[in-house]
Amino acid sequence: MPETLPEVLISEEQIKAKVDELARRISADYREVDDLILVGVLKGSFIFLADLARRLTIPRSVDFMALSTYGDSTTTDGAVRMILDLRRNISGKHVLVVEDIVDTGHTLAYLVRALAARQPASLKTCALVQKPDRREVYAQIDYLGFEIPDVWVVGCGLDWAEKFRTLPYIGVVHPEG
Ligand code: PRP
Repeated sequence: MPETLPEVLISEEQIKAKVDELARRISADYREVDDLILVGVLKGSFIFLADLARRLTIPRSVDFMALSTYGDSTTTDGAVRMILDLRRNISGKHVLVVEDIVDTGHTLAYLVRALAARQPASLKTCALVQKPDRREVYAQIDYLGFEIPDVWVVGCGLDWAEKFRTLPYIGVVHPEG
């Protein structure tokens, strides 16, 4: 039986336009940089990162990290651990962290702390969406796509129990309970 598709919160066209705009801003800001390292956070960032990376007009490369929160996602106290590290040494390099979503902020705050300690030439952050109402800790987002309300969103890398990650728009699901 086919799955009911989530209702649209942000359309595919809106996302494409926003990714174009972010790519233009980032390309302009880093026009003097000969290798911008885009750091994607698995799994959620892979679609946004792929779209963004292909629209940049500056020299860039891609690397990935994977993180995990202790406990289940609804009760996490924000403790984050690294389960996959970058392959490259980022010391002296320009780094842009790319996230699909900033929710409580714990993941991005951890990443910025961990990567800053490696002494990159610069370190900035980019997120497709953020939920300001859910924020628990400060985390700077230098390039932001959209602010969204506190609803469960899927698509463009975001999942609901691994479903709907590859949906081309951002939709809302209503988990029971
Ligand atoms: C999501 C998202 C961010 C993190 C943000 O990852 O990709 O990395 O949550 O949440 P926070 O601001 O509350 O820390 P998730 O743990 O769902 O894993 P996934 O990307 O593999 O789906």
